[in-house]
Amino acid sequence: MNHPTNLINVIDNLSEYLEYEAEENNAPVEISPDTLKELGQPCPAASHKQQDDDAGVKMKKTATAISVCKKCSLCKTRTKTVPGQGSLAPEIMFVGEAPGADEDAAGLAFVGRAGQLLTKMINAMGYAREEVFIGNILKCRPPENRKPSPEEMELCLPYLKEQIAVLKPKIIIALGATAIQGLLGISTGITKFRGTWSSFSGIDLMPTYHPAYLLRNPPAKKEVWQDLQAVLTRLGRKPPQAESKKK
Ligand code: URA
Repeated sequence: MNHPTNLINVIDNLSEYLEYEAEENNAPVEISPDTLKELGQPCPAASHKQQDDDAGVKMKKTATAISVCKKCSLCKTRTKTVPGQGSLAPEIMFVGEAPGADEDAAGLAFVGRAGQLLTKMINAMGYAREEVFIGNILKCRPPENRKPSPEEMELCLPYLKEQIAVLKPKIIIALGATAIQGLLGISTGITKFRGTWSSFSGIDLMPTYHPAYLLRNPPAKKEVWQDLQAVLTRLGRKPPQAESKKK
């Protein structure tokens, strides 16, 4: 912000006066949010926005690091890096495997066919896509959509961990075996493991089937819906359909 010199002097004097008052232990002085803004001080009423701004800066920093990452050979074949996208203060974070062809072209996670199904799942839970965060274990597409190698996952995981630490979602939904393997180091079959609560860095984690699997095997949608409902119950929410039936 550019201030004229006389305004800067007023701000300086006011700052000094407030410091003096604080040092002297005098009664707190009422200051408007605008004055605090002028002084460059955080305003309590704006703390939510401030948190979002901080998260935005940190997420951008991670995305920039990802965009120039050369830790593994996927940097040679990728078109765009795919850091993930969505809310900066999400209740839910979805974690998939790795970008496919559509995501590699767009630089966005889950925008292909599996992504469209994921959007339906998110909407059925009563959220818009922008209200959750959607990311992946790998930030670059493996050629021919092959499974990520253990080395690639290990090298890429710090980015996801950074994102989780910044976003602090209430619940992580791990989509498919690779997400579970990457986050929990567990290679138990997804069929056995889905629907059972786990934890990652103190955050509740629900494993479920990957939307790409649901495209090949639609009857499994029933089990996924059970898992998503368990998530809603833990968040103290009800799916919109159940809400409207009650009315
Ligand atoms: N499958 C994934 O696991 N992630 C994507 O972003 C797209 C498809």
